[in-house]
Amino acid sequence: MELSQEQITFFRQNGFVRLDAITTQEEIIRLRAIYDRLFEQKSGRNEGQQFDLAGTDEDDKEAKLPQILSPSTYAPELKDSLYHRNALTVAQQLLGPTAAYTGEHAILKPPRIGAETPWHQDEAYWNPGQYHESISIWMPLQEATLENGCMQFIPMDTAGDVLPHHSINHDPRIHGLEMDTVDASQAVACPIPAGGATIHHCRIPHYAGPNRSDTPRRAYILVFGLPTEARETARDFHWQRERQTARQERHRNAQMKN
Ligand code: NI
Repeated sequence: MELSQEQITFFRQNGFVRLDAITTQEEIIRLRAIYDRLFEQKSGRNEGQQFDLAGTDEDDKEAKLPQILSPSTYAPELKDSLYHRNALTVAQQLLGPTAAYTGEHAILKPPRIGAETPWHQDEAYWNPGQYHESISIWMPLQEATLENGCMQFIPMDTAGDVLPHHSINHDPRIHGLEMDTVDASQAVACPIPAGGATIHHCRIPHYAGPNRSDTPRRAYILVFGLPTEARETARDFHWQRERQTARQERHRNAQMKN
């Protein structure tokens, strides 16, 4: 799988790029069955790996934006895919030959109730003590449209730093983060077909709207990065220190049992 020079240049200038296809429609059907099973079975919930990204995540509340971290822990067959292989090739073309796979997650927007994913930079979620040069490859398992919550980006110089964030609704019980201020006047929406992809740098602000359609909006995201290095001067991501979520609690309890 080879990117065109136009695609590489577009990514360098804007911090994101769109691909029409990163895998086949046959594979999308296979991955979708696995994906739906993981959410139906609440895989990872007890370990804090499945939770509501946009809500307070109580056990008896329906999640508005369910997320699974590292879904291949619960379905290793996800990794044996053309998507994983193509994504690595693409990442190395954009970041360089030392780029490696660093993680994955799945974000589901249920029909009608799926909440928006507020404007954020991915690096705001990560270790503030390290330099990060990473990209996320975001693949929808059905068409992604403005109606069901496709990705939107603000083109920006990726050499900048992480801007201030806070928990959604300023509620530290909510895992999801939101930028304190954002000028979305230059935002670019990226509707793409099933099995297409958008790729964004870890410091590019992005957003996905609520799902107003009658079908689920499924996204399966792979993350690739250059080897991380410690920063000489620490940054304080206070939004991480302040967070107190039910997910952290379940994660701690599961660790103690081991
Ligand atoms: Ni993100």
